[in-house]
Amino acid sequence: MIALVTGASSGIGRAMAVGFAKRGFNLIVVARRRQRLLELKEEVQEKYGVKVRCFCHDLSRTEECLRLFEEVSRVNVDVVVNSAGFGVFGKFHETSLEDELKMIDVNIKAVHTLTKLFLQKFRERNKGFILNVASIAGFMAGPEFSSYYASKSYVINLTKAIHEELRVEKSNVYIGALCPGPVRTEFNEIAGAQFATAGISDVEAAEYAIEKMFDGQMIIIPGAGTKLLRAAAKYAPDNVMLAATGAVQRSRKKIEKDTDVISE
Ligand SMILES: NC(=O)c1ccc[n+]([C@@H]2O[C@H](COP(=O)([O-])OP(=O)(O)OC[C@H]3O[C@@H](n4cnc5c(N)ncnc54)[C@H](OP(=O)(O)O)[C@@H]3O)[C@@H](O)[C@H]2O)c1
Repeated sequence: MIALVTGASSGIGRAMAVGFAKRGFNLIVVARRRQRLLELKEEVQEKYGVKVRCFCHDLSRTEECLRLFEEVSRVNVDVVVNSAGFGVFGKFHETSLEDELKMIDVNIKAVHTLTKLFLQKFRERNKGFILNVASIAGFMAGPEFSSYYASKSYVINLTKAIHEELRVEKSNVYIGALCPGPVRTEFNEIAGAQFATAGISDVEAAEYAIEKMFDGQMIIIPGAGTKLLRAAAKYAPDNVMLAATGAVQRSRKKIEKDTDVISE
């Protein structure tokens, strides 16, 4: 069995990769930071005796998503986890257009591209799992974090629609969306703002996600508090949710952005 995980150099993606290795899966791990991927490879090969292949790609570039698919086309991948992603924090009129378009390229276009390519392959075999890492943010609008929230809405709605198409055709292929609240990763440093709450660990989020994915759950929400938030987003009036989300985002402390992240 082979699991392909994007964003495996850090956070949720890394923890998912370790989680699959622990379950005996060989890995294909993808991110820009080669050294991080090599460290992960060494760790899981030694601990779990699985095979790991590393692919360094900037997934904001569609041609690199296509190249990745081509590079792994000879192996039968069983699981694809689209975890690569990041956020751009700040008021919409102040945030960098360049950063946001790159975010849209990674959070939306790369997820869209890899989902389509692997779905087509999985449908031919009537087998395979695709897990898209969205966010609880995708169920609401997010003042001061607007384009990130909107990008995750795209991922959730795309995933739900494909899930229904697969259900109607009685396919054995699975697709689902992982929708965590705050998780302790490098996400804050890259977005440039600290969460108001501590959040759960990446391992907790990943372990929960893997179990629920194999149960066939379409929307996976780790953590009791985040499940409550999902219920509130469903039933509270729009203006109440907007005001509450805006207040939460405004309470976040701005921090220095980690711009060196890809030069490691
Ligand atoms: N942390 C949270 O609270 C939280 C909550 C809900 C959802 N999420 C979602 O969870 C996913 C993982 O985030 P995380 O929290 O684990 O953050 P993280 O620790 O910053 O990890 C992000 C991963 O995405 C990869 N990545 C970013 N841009 C990329 C690019 N252009 N090409 C290839 N890979 C790229 C990074 O690898 P390189 O830098 O090495 O390329 C890294 O491995 C994201 O989609 C995020 O939106 C996070």
